[in-house]
Amino acid sequence: MKKSAYKRVVLKISGEALAGKKGFGFDFDVLKKIALEVKDLIAMEVEVGLVVGGGNIWRGRTGEGMDRSTADHMGMLATCINALALQDALEGMGVMTRVQTAIEMKEIAEPFIKRRAVRHLEKGRVVIFAAGTGNPYFSTDTTAALRAAEIEADVILLAKNVDGVYDKDPNKYSDAKKYDKLSYIEVLEQGLQVMDSTATSLCMDNSIPILVFGLETEGNIKRAISGEKIGTLVCKK
Ligand code: GTP
Repeated sequence: MKKSAYKRVVLKISGEALAGKKGFGFDFDVLKKIALEVKDLIAMEVEVGLVVGGGNIWRGRTGEGMDRSTADHMGMLATCINALALQDALEGMGVMTRVQTAIEMKEIAEPFIKRRAVRHLEKGRVVIFAAGTGNPYFSTDTTAALRAAEIEADVILLAKNVDGVYDKDPNKYSDAKKYDKLSYIEVLEQGLQVMDSTATSLCMDNSIPILVFGLETEGNIKRAISGEKIGTLVCKK
């Protein structure tokens, strides 16, 4: 088995990814596929923290006159539903997991405690971080950056629907150019759609590399972890 280039990672999965082509709710084949890939990482002795979005269930409705905090709280709850779905898929394959939530709901999952999270990781358990940062006005990208900093992850693996970062939308422009490597400042200055600026800044300030890659191609998570040149790496240049 190939060796991992990283010891401890945070894998960020968007909520939309869990919906597959349905666009809403769950595509259980996708859930299974992600779980299988995470299982491969555990087999490679990689410590995995998972952060999941909530967009397959709820997207911010602030533009429609909704209070931002309320909309964000609803989004945080959506990530908890997704975390439980991922936990179920992983445990169904014999992968040990713990869900930790940023908002206490201890009848359902453990509260987030950094030291416990690290202990779980050391024991080979996948820790699924749910409920975002627990605060409105922050995204699950920022959650990934924050948890990666806290657990001292070597990299954030940002699984997307596109296979890297482009200078313009590759779905709209056939001449869109893919970047192999970018600095945090380039992402911020050019307004590239990698992570939001809060998340990117947090990664920059804490020197956490971000590897952006496409989830669609099977085995890509393993490829990313093996140090194969896929996607786009955002780091200190
Ligand atoms: P170790 O002490 O490292 O063995 O970790 P552990 O997670 O196995 O120990 P613990 O006895 O704390 O947890 C056993 C089970 O209870 C695990 O599935 C935890 O996720 C779960 N658990 C622990 N604390 C809570 C909690 O506050 N709420 C809920 N819902 N489950 C919890």
